[in-house]
Amino acid sequence: MINTQDLERLKEMIRSEGLSFYIETYGCQMNAHDSEKMGGILLELGYRQATDKFGADIVLFNTCCVRENAENKIYGNVGKLKQVKKQRSHMIIGVCGCMMQQKDAAAHLFRMFPFVDMCFGTTNMQELPEMIAGILLDDKRQLNVKYDVQVEEEMPMLREQPPLASVNIMQGCNNFCSYCIVPYVRGREHSRPMKNIVKEVEFLIEAGYREVLLLGQNVNSYGNNSEEENFPKLLEEIAKTGIDRIRFMSSHPKDAGRDMFEIMARYPNICKQLHLPVQSGSTSLLKRMNRKYSREHYLDLIREVREIMPDIKISTDIMIGFPGETEEEFLDTLSLMREVRYDSSFDFVYSPRKGTPAASMPDQIPEDVKQQRIMQIVALQSELTFESNLRNVGKTELILIEGKSSRDPSMIAGKTDGGVMVNCRGDISLVGEIIPVKITEAKKTTLIGERI
Ligand code: 5AD
Ligand code: SF4
Repeated sequence: MINTQDLERLKEMIRSEGLSFYIETYGCQMNAHDSEKMGGILLELGYRQATDKFGADIVLFNTCCVRENAENKIYGNVGKLKQVKKQRSHMIIGVCGCMMQQKDAAAHLFRMFPFVDMCFGTTNMQELPEMIAGILLDDKRQLNVKYDVQVEEEMPMLREQPPLASVNIMQGCNNFCSYCIVPYVRGREHSRPMKNIVKEVEFLIEAGYREVLLLGQNVNSYGNNSEEENFPKLLEEIAKTGIDRIRFMSSHPKDAGRDMFEIMARYPNICKQLHLPVQSGSTSLLKRMNRKYSREHYLDLIREVREIMPDIKISTDIMIGFPGETEEEFLDTLSLMREVRYDSSFDFVYSPRKGTPAASMPDQIPEDVKQQRIMQIVALQSELTFESNLRNVGKTELILIEGKSSRDPSMIAGKTDGGVMVNCRGDISLVGEIIPVKITEAKKTTLIGERI
């Protein structure tokens, strides 16, 4: 811990020199939320928010290592700051997040990029003040990737403006899917106490937020070490706070079930949207992935959820090119997608991650086969998404307006209860309002509507 005297010296220095920060975030929503926490710490230290990284006094790269292409991009972007740092030598450059938590990665990065001042892992964010003090006051590079899976409560946070907020309900993952690096870089599961999460949501309501996204690698195992706390109960308690909308991700098919679906159906403020990553439609491949469910079990879940909530929107993660994936196994994934009729999906090409069991499995799939398979998945999903969007035309949906439309700045945009983006005419003063909109047209991934 930094002593009070050094902390005050540091704050004085940051304030008097008017220093600013910039955080570049890669990867998932969890990482984006970690960046909000780091932003909160930096604001508290007296830093201002910079508009771009080239003019900032401290730049943090919050990295992701789930797939190799993200890693390559990050190395490239950190490298680009070398020249900038030559001109602005006082600039602090930090690299943090999942990538740094891989074995020897931080030490390697330090050797490769001598102009990088600090590297730290996913659980060391709260030590940012002492790391910065070490650089600014003692002129020492900082390397801090020790494991300490303590979920910090009541951290300051730099959130986006209302109406949307993310709330972390747990850290880590115990599942060890054979392709995935997450359990190695984020450590074991650790759930936050329910009362703290509920308190945070109540605080967000007070602050004008209307929708929360509950985050965890596997929300269905929330509270696994507790007799009283579990995910359906948590959902119910949050629904009772009266917040307008609740979403959550991700669910794991081996743990999701009727108890959660029934709570979702009972409370109108729990959005009728389910992200249920399947990865593959082939039972034999799911076994090699260590997913712990079969195609049949997954399809039973889908039937059950639709029985309870017929209009629910369902999305998934699909992965192709896992080692040894046969043509038949691949076709099983295509047929499952057709059978479920996903409203949307995130489609990934398998990327070998060092240290995971799948990386050393025989029969890695050649790149051209992976490319040809992913193209088929993407093409099928765009058909399914368009069909799903067409089913919305003519209906009236409640939209929570989030801001200007990204496709047409003269329009405003927000999501339906099911999570589909709708663009409509309207004034920007409607941001944060929930308004009825009649859907008039389906685009490939979004909808067009008219206010009524
Ligand atoms: N290669 C490709 N995709 C991966 N994912 C996780 N690990 C890998 C990997 N090694 C995907 C899974 C997961 C999503 C968040 O990222 O589909 O659900
Ligand atoms: Fe990775 Fe599987 Fe855990 Fe998801 S559930 S984070 S895919 S190990």
